[in-house]
Amino acid sequence: MRTYKTAKALQKALPKDKTIAYVPTMGALHAGHMALVEAAAQSHDVVVASIFVNPTQFNDETDLDTYPRTPKSDAALLKKHGCKYLYLPGVNDIYPNGTEHSAAEGIDFGPLTATMEGANRPGHFDGVAQVVSRLLEIVQPTTLVLGQKDYQQVAVIRAMVQRLDIPVSILVVPTVRAKDGLALSSRNKRLNKKERVAAGTINVQLAAVAAGLRAGWPVDVLEQLALSGLGQNDLLDPEYVQIFDGDTLLPYLDGDNVRELVVATAVQCGPVRLIDNRIVNQSNS
Ligand code: PAF
Repeated sequence: MRTYKTAKALQKALPKDKTIAYVPTMGALHAGHMALVEAAAQSHDVVVASIFVNPTQFNDETDLDTYPRTPKSDAALLKKHGCKYLYLPGVNDIYPNGTEHSAAEGIDFGPLTATMEGANRPGHFDGVAQVVSRLLEIVQPTTLVLGQKDYQQVAVIRAMVQRLDIPVSILVVPTVRAKDGLALSSRNKRLNKKERVAAGTINVQLAAVAAGLRAGWPVDVLEQLALSGLGQNDLLDPEYVQIFDGDTLLPYLDGDNVRELVVATAVQCGPVRLIDNRIVNQSNS
């Protein structure tokens, strides 16, 4: 694996006649990221990954400052799992015209950014769209590989790719979970032992909502039960539990016919804000 610090050097090195799968990351890599790299390697000639902690998508300075940074072990993991090109840029390489400039500026994402993470983290998705549009401009991959854990992020990036007419496919890889069901996340590293145990409850509550939906329980009852179930643990402070249509991200109303039914949550656990989701069911209609 070769590491490149500038867009120019990476672009010069990338093969022109091969399929390229691209895994954008913010580092502090774990088995969830490696599932993305492996899925990428299975279906493409080469895998490119990037590590860039994008300042414009953080709406909380402390979160940006304390975001785990482990570039040496990240590089070793990527190499082991078949990544051939690592792009490790600085802020000036990503934003040569300053962080104000964004190719995605002015895109109205409508309901896709009006709820959940969009409502709770002002500006977050503008920063994500800004950095991903720039990264795609640099890497120009055949396929962009993203994790299902960031369900709303995938929806926003999909919409951005469509609106900007970027010729790239999107491959979404299922969430990788720890033994107790906690979704793997770089931020989990910041949980102490008690918080880590408490965080296991998040998946339990989402699974209960999914089971309730399949059994025909009303949406508002299930959301309330999950919120109070999470809140019973002193170490957890749930922000939302939302059941929604996976295509529009609009709240699901009992009886609606949707292609993909999803439940998602965000929970403050000690110093860390954790998100997770479950696809309840899918149909091809
Ligand atoms: O999901 C992430 O790690 C980030 O939001 C991404 C897609 C790498 C953009 O900074």
